[in-house]
Amino acid sequence: MSADIPSRASGRTVVVTGGASGIGRAIAEAFRAHGDRVVVLDRSDGADVIRVDVSDEASVRSAFSSVREQFGTVDVLVNSAGLLTEAPVEEMDLATWNETIRVDLTGVFLCCREVLQPMRAQRWGRIINVASQLGIKGGVGLAHYSAAKAGVIGFTKALALEAAPGNVLVNSIAPGPIETPLVEGISEDWKRAKRAELPLGRFGTPAEVAPSALLLASDPGGNLFVGQTLGPNSGDVMP
Ligand SMILES: NC(=O)c1ccc[n+]([C@@H]2O[C@H](COP(=O)([O-])OP(=O)(O)OC[C@H]3O[C@@H](n4cnc5c(N)ncnc54)[C@H](O)[C@@H]3O)[C@@H](O)[C@H]2O)c1
Repeated sequence: MSADIPSRASGRTVVVTGGASGIGRAIAEAFRAHGDRVVVLDRSDGADVIRVDVSDEASVRSAFSSVREQFGTVDVLVNSAGLLTEAPVEEMDLATWNETIRVDLTGVFLCCREVLQPMRAQRWGRIINVASQLGIKGGVGLAHYSAAKAGVIGFTKALALEAAPGNVLVNSIAPGPIETPLVEGISEDWKRAKRAELPLGRFGTPAEVAPSALLLASDPGGNLFVGQTLGPNSGDVMP
């Protein structure tokens, strides 16, 4: 690390969207255990949660403005808020398509935009976007979700190029199937078939994904990751 670039190994302010459940919650816990101050933004209620709808520009602006007032500059942003629905393309209505794109893709853009300038000003920042292996390989009945997640991966790479000169590093994590409320509604038949496809033969847990976020945010461990897509995915896809 050169002398003019500050180092931030712990004690950072970390914002986790979607941090009230599943992967986001495990990531929030991992950063807390690491000694960082964690702020959870979510649309669902919970203790110490700042309410936000990541798909709504005004809601995102107001949530981040209250984060800045209470906690100052965000050092690490983890975008984990997301939703998943299923519909074959022929039967998919426009509202279903739009909702997925708005929450899973536009939400990432809106939240990233809020933190860039202050991160650049302090010459240190980390943004970690939770994509999905489905953004790489696609999935039946999941065209809208796969498109949004492929969009997150492309967005991450482009933003990484814009932000890296300011020492703001932007990367994504593309998990495979993980046991969370998001996948609870999917049929047992689908899950059985999916497990059989996986080289590891099992879904992951949120606690097995969280260390990827810690690594990308770590200093010096994450210092050379720019626009990468980490894949804790039980071997589902090998990009
Ligand atoms: N579970 C999996 O198998 C899996 C695999 C790959 C990627 N992912 C991705 O991981 C991320 C987290 O998913 P999860 O499995 O932990 O699901 P989850 O349902 O347990 O958590 C998602 C969280 O996002 C919040 N959220 C949803 N829409 C929101 C909105 N508009 N504004 C603010 N908050 C909102 C929910 O309230 C919830 O707390 C998602 O982006 C998901 O697409 C999940």
